[in-house]
Amino acid sequence: MKIGVLTGGGDCPGLNAVIRAVVRKSLEYGHQVYGIKRGWKGLIEKNYEELTLDSISGILHKGGTILGSSRTNVYKIENGENIAKENFKAMELDALVAIGGEDTLGIASKLFKAGLNVVGVPKTIDNDLNATDYTFGFDSAVNVATEAIDRLHTTAESHERVMVVEVMGRHAGWIALHAGLAGGADYILIPEVPFDINDIVDAVKKRHARGKKFSIICVAEGAKVKTEEETDKDGSFVLASLKKDSFGHVMLGGIAEIIAEEIEKRTGLETRSTVLGHIQRGGSPTAFDRVLGTRFGIFAAELVNNKDFGKMAALKGSQIVGVSLDEATGKLKTVNPEFYELAKTFFN
Ligand code: F6P
Repeated sequence: MKIGVLTGGGDCPGLNAVIRAVVRKSLEYGHQVYGIKRGWKGLIEKNYEELTLDSISGILHKGGTILGSSRTNVYKIENGENIAKENFKAMELDALVAIGGEDTLGIASKLFKAGLNVVGVPKTIDNDLNATDYTFGFDSAVNVATEAIDRLHTTAESHERVMVVEVMGRHAGWIALHAGLAGGADYILIPEVPFDINDIVDAVKKRHARGKKFSIICVAEGAKVKTEEETDKDGSFVLASLKKDSFGHVMLGGIAEIIAEEIEKRTGLETRSTVLGHIQRGGSPTAFDRVLGTRFGIFAAELVNNKDFGKMAALKGSQIVGVSLDEATGKLKTVNPEFYELAKTFFN
């Protein structure tokens, strides 16, 4: 078989581990593998090259993706689906492994329905893909964010400041919740639970009343304020940017600064903000992500070899299983309220 592999959407640590595993296992089966460059863009432009044992050697520990990535949406391109199908045929591919998040795999799901032999691997630092317990890349991002919070702790304590740290997560607060809990944050804000600025201010004041001279607030970039009806007028904020990408997502960033200004105004305490941004997506994958990515990659190669298409490799408990691409992309996996309730124990 001739198997294509591509990486789409935001990059994350562990992508190379998946590519390496797909290639190693597929070559073991006697197949040929072709790396499609820059996500779906490479399929539209027929930009690809053969992947050999040599080309995937020494990449396991490296961040990013040797194939490049883009947020190209096949369905935003005129006649995109037909071009993708024609190029798949022209490249003489028998199957395609798409490594990506909800957008990339949403396209994979549609192309499968349109007749292409596609399987998926769940990638995103956000951990918000449905039907898998974890995506690879998430653990690496959480570790970066946790280390950042640890570092902010020491400087916050020395200067007796409030520190607001913004992490990624536009629809789901998994990174904020995990890194906030692991780093001992004093308040965590996630997109799933709209916040009232008065609650944060109260928590900071309470901490100071019991002698604590610094506070750490961990906020997901997609955290939303309660509507004006739900909170007081001063509690309403605006998004820093309303620019959108090709999937129609608002490009976020900047909520930490707005919250920091508000806390300083309302408490009189010196407050600073830090946006971790793409630092969370860069660098080497953790051992957990290398192993998870490797297991996903091997499983995807097995799905292809068994001609079991339209599926995504997923982690359920400790097992890797196949789930339908439809189930994986039908809805987002957001933080469950009980988990957030648990975190509230530490909000003061
Ligand atoms: O989807 C992963 C992610 O890192 C999100 O957490 C973040 O909102 C977005 O990508 C940032 O995208 P870009 O790299 O296009 O700025």
